[in-house]
Amino acid sequence: MVNLRMANESQNRIDAALSGPETRLPDVLPTKGHVIGAAQDPRDVTKHAPKIRVDKANLWYGAKQALFDVDLTIHERSVTALIGPSGCGKSTLLRCINRMNDLIDGVRIEGKLTLDGEDLYHRDVEVEILRRRVGMVFQKSNPFPKSIFENVAYGLRIQGVKNRALLDEIVETSLRRAALWDEAKDRLHESALGLSGGQQQRLCIARALATSPEVLLMDEPASALDPISTAKIEDLIHDLRERYTIVIVTHSMHQAARVSDRTAFFLNGVLVEEGKTDQIFTNPQRKETEDYVTGRFG
Ligand SMILES: Nc1ncnc2c1ncn2[C@@H]1O[C@H](COP(=O)(O)OP(=O)(O)OP(=O)(O)O)[C@@H](O)[C@H]1O
Ligand SMILES: [Mg+2]
Repeated sequence: MVNLRMANESQNRIDAALSGPETRLPDVLPTKGHVIGAAQDPRDVTKHAPKIRVDKANLWYGAKQALFDVDLTIHERSVTALIGPSGCGKSTLLRCINRMNDLIDGVRIEGKLTLDGEDLYHRDVEVEILRRRVGMVFQKSNPFPKSIFENVAYGLRIQGVKNRALLDEIVETSLRRAALWDEAKDRLHESALGLSGGQQQRLCIARALATSPEVLLMDEPASALDPISTAKIEDLIHDLRERYTIVIVTHSMHQAARVSDRTAFFLNGVLVEEGKTDQIFTNPQRKETEDYVTGRFG
């Protein structure tokens, strides 16, 4: 049941993308500041439907417990920042959402995680399809040793898309959304490894966007970048939140404050506090949160 529904939704999108000019990917982003259904408070994303729910999640690596009773709701078309000191479980939680932890031996998860109300860990869920819906960008950019074009087209080719015009169009749209088009358009067929670090990271974002995910998980996507590239990634996140549900791990308090609507603070595998980003930074309810965001801790 569950996998069929997931497969159908995903397949519908691919079919739509394949079926003609009127169903092309929209190539114009909504203007900044346009948040549907939140006219009075443009940053109150709790009015958006829940996209991901984490309900009493516990996770063990072998005998070592890394997450403890984590409860978290992530609303669609929002940016949630996961913050906290090294080793507190941010990446672990992120990886639960697209089941990347399945790839690690000895991981055991209890509790419930849902995407649009569907149990992510139901035995019928097809993980490949889930990962198309929930894309991921890593701290270290990892372009394939292929051309820029083929990096972005990679996921589509795996899905069997052969139509050259469609591939061209989706590659261009994805590179534009990732704010890389102008820098890459004249070298699409050159190796992606010739791009700078910041460009490679935006390429990886374009690659993640090309298969039309609904959720984008970003694990410290700008930590290795210079301030200009970082600003580009932050602008990009600002634009993408109109369309995608984004969960970003960051060690930069400034970055969390700049890009996110909601912030979740973790300590030793426990979600200490979650709330509107400005509230977490200006009026945290827990002493541990205050110590962390003011730099007295960690
Ligand atoms: N593959 C693994 N095998 C065993 N233990 C792991 C594994 N990955 C993470 N852990 C442990 O789980 C805990 C949480 O790690 P995690 O990587 O989620 O932290 P983090 O908050 O992302 O830290 P950082 O900010 O350093 O990236 C740590 O104690 C870590 O050592
Ligand atoms: Mg991490």
